[in-house]
Parts: sequence; C-alpha cells; structure tokens
Amino acid sequence: MANQFTALGIHATMVNIVVTDRDGAEHQLKAAPGSTLMEVLRDQDMGVAALCGGMCSCATCHVYVDGAWAAKLPAAQSDETAVLDEVPDRKASSRLSCQIVMTPAYDGLKVTVAPED
Ligand code: FES
Repeated sequence: MANQFTALGIHATMVNIVVTDRDGAEHQLKAAPGSTLMEVLRDQDMGVAALCGGMCSCATCHVYVDGAWAAKLPAAQSDETAVLDEVPDRKASSRLSCQIVMTPAYDGLKVTVAPED
C-alpha cells in the first residue's frame, strides 16, 4: 500500500498490532507506517465499515484502545471527540481509528473493535 513513506521511497518496518474483534478473537496484524489504524482494520476484515472513508464523521471505525496504550497516543482533537460524544458505547478508551496514524512507536498497540451501533 502506498503511503507518505513509500511514496518517498522509504520502506519502513511494519508495525505489529494486536486486535480483538467483535467475537473476542485476537489477531496479530501488521500495519504500514503512515497508514491509519482504520485502514488496517478495514483492509484486514476486522468488521470496520469506515463508511465516511476516514473523514471523522461516521464513527464506524470506533475502537477501544488498551489501557496501557491510551496514554501513548496523541489526544483526540475536538472533531473526533464531537463524533465520539454521539456514540452509545463510548468508553474512556474510545477512539476513532481513522484518526490514529501508525508509526513505529506504536509497535505492539492493542485495540478492541467496538460494537456496531
Ligand atoms: S471512518 Fe468514519 S469516523 Fe472514522
């Protein structure tokens, strides 16, 4: 998948992530740096519809970030929190995965796909 790194001819090491799907099954996935977490979950058939295509408006990419990781991610911006305010299953660890851009610093990131609304 082309992204800002590969477009520059930089082939960074893939980022390992652990994803729990809606059935409770755990998956070890790899993410290209520069891609969004939503793109990884959508492309790996984790049940993330991403109806708005990553425009931070549909909340179908809602995930719960593992407690140890929540503090390591950049804080949600106001547009993301506004969308999350409308999500019935929101938790303190809720994030929109389309707003999380993968970097090598996130190697080992653990998330759970939130229920469909
Ligand atoms: S893909 Fe629509 S809010 Fe993330």
